[in-house]
This record gives sequence, structure tokens and C-alpha cells, in this order.
Amino acid sequence: MSKIVAVVNQKGGVGKTTTTVNLATALSTVGKKILIIDFDPQGNATTGLGVTDKKNIKGSYEVLTGEVKADQVSYETEIPNLFLMPSSPHLSGAEIELVGLKGRERLLRVALQPLGSFFDYIFIDCPPSLGLLTLNALVAADQVLVPLQCEFYALEGLSQLLDTVSKVKKNLNPGLDLQGIVLTMFDSRSSLSSQVANDVRLHLKDIVYKTHIPRNVRVAEAPSFGKPAVIYDMKCLGSLAYIQLAKEILSQEKELAA
Ligand SMILES: Nc1ncnc2c1ncn2[C@@H]1O[C@H](COP(=O)(O)OP(=O)(O)O)[C@@H](O)[C@H]1O
Ligand SMILES: [Mg+2]
Repeated sequence: MSKIVAVVNQKGGVGKTTTTVNLATALSTVGKKILIIDFDPQGNATTGLGVTDKKNIKGSYEVLTGEVKADQVSYETEIPNLFLMPSSPHLSGAEIELVGLKGRERLLRVALQPLGSFFDYIFIDCPPSLGLLTLNALVAADQVLVPLQCEFYALEGLSQLLDTVSKVKKNLNPGLDLQGIVLTMFDSRSSLSSQVANDVRLHLKDIVYKTHIPRNVRVAEAPSFGKPAVIYDMKCLGSLAYIQLAKEILSQEKELAA
């Protein structure tokens, strides 16, 4: 089956979308078949992959409500092996619309089942909250990837997030595991960045990936060209870090399988 990875952090601006897009692209370049599900009403992953007309598009919202089947709106991108289920405008109302529905937290899980093993990985780019959309992602997922920004408040909110993950595992999705935490926007010139990174590694040990993602201008400007950084500028430090992270994740999986 496809490995479904929810990219989650209830804080905005910590690098969820950037990590989703670039990690997914790095994996697609080594021949893995990847689907990115844009599950954030803001649709940043959709824009970042070059979709300009988001108004008339069907995507994750229509999949959630059962209006379309997941494979109908898993579009090929310009990047070989990389597919995108875009965010659609209606997604912003989903949290409220679905709240009274029976089985509302399982809608995405059920909707993704027909995809079977077509993809090696499915990455769900979550919105910045622990609401119903993120809950749907956690119930659908096998693993959770948490981007953590190297800033003073990094650890604040993390315990709530990890607590939510373990509650979902206990009550709704026993197959859910924490894949890892990736430190993002690391600034080598700031002692605070190093301090936070050291602190996080000290407390959370092996669940933090060895690879951290540096703060890098090329990474920030890539979405405005509708391209992942790892395609826009493969050799910049940010891209190299995402490629390294992809390698680390692949070798982690090999170890687990052995
Ligand atoms: N490594 C990085 N270097 C520089 N800018 C980054 C980096 N990672 C993310 N950003 C920028 O920070 C902002 C927030 O990142 P984003 O991935 O959209 O976060 P989230 O999805 O968690 O809200 C975006 O403008 C993005 O371009
Ligand atoms: Mg985002």
C-alpha cells in the first residue's frame, strides 16, 4: 500500500508546505511515485506547484465530500512521478460543514482507499490547526512528519501536538506513528537557532532527523515561480538539505524493514 504521511504542525509558517513540496519532489526524482494532497484552504502547495487558476478547480474538498473520486483529481504535475490533489476554494468551509456528519473524522481515510498502492507515498499538507481537517489527515495517515521551526517558541505547542497524535492512535487509528521531526529555517548565524536545535535534540532525541533545513532565500522565492525549490535551484543549500532529508527517510525505512 501507499505510505501516507501527514505533515502536521498547528502553527502557521513553520515550513509544512515547503517541506511537503520539496521532500515529495526529492523523492519523486529518485523514481518514487508521489501524491501531494493540499489539505490547507490557503492552497499554498497548489500555488507553489504552478496552479494559477484555483477558483474552478476540484480537489481535496470534493474528495472529502464524495463528489469526486480521489484518482479523478490527482493530477499529474510537470514533474515526473509527482501528482497533486489541489486544494479547492470550498475547503475553507469544510470544518463547519462536516461537523455534524457521522464518521466525519474518517472521510479522508475512506476516500483515499481506492488509490490502493498506485503511489509509493502520499503527503498530506495540513492547515495550521488541529481541527477537523487535520484530524482527518491523522486518521488517514500511517505516519506524522512534524516540521519545527528553529525559534524561541518552537517547543511550545509541540506537546499538545504529540498528545493529539497519541490520542488519535489510541482511539481512531492504531496504525499511526510519528515518523519524525524536522528542524526548519535553521539560521547558522544566529546562536538562538543552534540553541533551539540543541535543546530540541536533547529533549526529543532520535525522533529528530539529523538533517536540518537551513533558512535559504532560494527556498523562499521558488513558490513564486510555481516550482519546488529542489527544481528551481537544485544546488542551493535548502534544496540540498531536502534531498538529504529524503535520503535519511529512505534509509530509515530500509532499517525498519530489515
Ligand atoms: N528553509 C527556508 N528558508 C527560507 N524561507 C523558508 C524556508 N522554509 C519556509 N520558508 C518560508 O517561510 C514561509 C512559511 O513556510 P510554509 O512552508 O508556507 O509554512 P507552513 O506551511 O507551515 O505555513 C513561506 O514564506 C516560505 O517560503
Ligand atoms: Mg502551509
